Amino acid sequence: MASLFDGSNIKLDVLKKRAFNYRWAEVPEGAIPLTAADPDYPAAPEIQEAMMDYVKDGCFSYTPKLGYPEFAESISRGLKARKGEDIDPELILPIDSAARGMYIIAETGLRPGDEMIVFDPVDFLFRESCLAAGGKVVLFPAVLKDGHIDLSELESYITPRTKMIGLCNPHNPYGVLYRPEDLEHIMALCEKYDLYIMNDEIWSDIVFPEEKYLSIYSLGNERCKRVMSVFGFSKSFGIAGLRVGCVYTTNPELFEGIVENSDVMSTAGGVASISQIAGMACMDKCYYWVDEFLVHLKKNRDYAVDRLNQMPLIKAYRPHATYLLYVDVRAFGMKSVEFTDYMQEKVKLALVSGGEKFFGPGSEGYIRICFATSHEILEEGLNRLEKGIHMLIEEKNLV
Ligand SMILES: Cc1ncc(COP(=O)(O)O)c(C=O)c1O
Repeated sequence: MASLFDGSNIKLDVLKKRAFNYRWAEVPEGAIPLTAADPDYPAAPEIQEAMMDYVKDGCFSYTPKLGYPEFAESISRGLKARKGEDIDPELILPIDSAARGMYIIAETGLRPGDEMIVFDPVDFLFRESCLAAGGKVVLFPAVLKDGHIDLSELESYITPRTKMIGLCNPHNPYGVLYRPEDLEHIMALCEKYDLYIMNDEIWSDIVFPEEKYLSIYSLGNERCKRVMSVFGFSKSFGIAGLRVGCVYTTNPELFEGIVENSDVMSTAGGVASISQIAGMACMDKCYYWVDEFLVHLKKNRDYAVDRLNQMPLIKAYRPHATYLLYVDVRAFGMKSVEFTDYMQEKVKLALVSGGEKFFGPGSEGYIRICFATSHEILEEGLNRLEKGIHMLIEEKNLV
C-alpha cells in the first residue's frame, strides 16, 4: 500500500494557490519554499470526512461560547493519552489559533510595564504577544550546551518587574526538548519569584520516536498553578488555515482571566464551528497519521542533517523534535537575511532567515529549514542550497 507520505500525495498545484505565509503561493514560480512550519501533505482523510459531514446539513449557527464541550473533552483525552497531562476539560478553552492563545495568555498574566523573559532565539510570537499586552521583553540568551538549552544564567534575568517566563517545549527553532532537571529549574524559579509560565506545547506531538517528550505537567498539577498552556493543530495535523488551537490551565482563577481576555463571551473571539469539528477529528481519529508522519519526518531529518553537514562552511543541528533545522551559516560572514535573499535569487530556494525578526538577535547568522515535505522536494531544495553555497564560496573567495 502506498504510504500517506509518498511524494505523489503532495498536491503542488493546490498548494500554489492555497499555501501562504512564505510558502508555495507566495514564492516566485519555480522556487521551492522550505520556510514556514506547515506540512506540504494534505490533512488526514478523517479530518476531511468530518468536515464534509458537518457541512452537508448546511446549518452554521453559533457554537457555545466556550467551544463545543465535546471538543474540550477530546483535547483533554488527547493530552492525557499522548502526553500524560491531566487537564480538566472545563479548563480548556478552544481558541482561533495557538498564536491567538499566546496573546490571550500574555494579556492574562501581564500588566503594562511587566517584564516577560523571552528566550533568544525562540519563535517571534513570544515577543509579539508580550508587547501586545504592554509588557516589556527581556531577552534571555538561550545558548545550547551539550544539546540542551543552558539555563544556568536564567535567574540573573529576573527582576522585581518580571511576571512571566515563556517556555517553548519543544523549542522552535532549536528542535530540542527539556529534561526533567530543566523543567524543575524553570518551575523552581517561578515558585521562588511568583512568575507565570507561558507554556507553548504546539510542537509536543512532533517528537522523534526515540526521544521522550516531557511536559511541564510532569512536575505534577499542584505545582503548575502558575502555568498557562497553549496547543495548536497546525504543526501536528497540517490544518494551519483552519485557525484552531486551545489554551488550558489547571487553575480555575487563571481560566477565568483567560476567558475574559479571549473575548469569547462577547462573541468577538472563538473558533469557527467547522474548525472545531476538524480539531475534534484530529484528536479522536488522527494520531495514527501523526505517527506515520513522524516515521517519514525522521527519514527526512536524517537525510537532511547528513547532507547539510557534508556541505562546506555550514553546520546543522539534529533536532530531537519539530520538523525544523537550525543551521549555522556564520562562516559566510553575511547577515542571515542576506544569505536567504541570495539563495532565493540565485537558486530559487526560499528559507527562513535567523535574526531579530523571526527568532531574536541571538539567531543572527543562522537560517531555518522546514523539512515537512517529500523526500524528492527536500532533495531538490538541498541540491539548490549546495549549489548556492558553492557559488557563494567562489564569489566571496572563501575556502
Ligand atoms: C512555537 C510556536 N508557537 C505558536 C505557533 C503558532 O501556531 P498557529 O499558526 O497554529 O497559531 C507556531 C507556528 O509556527 C510556533 O512555532
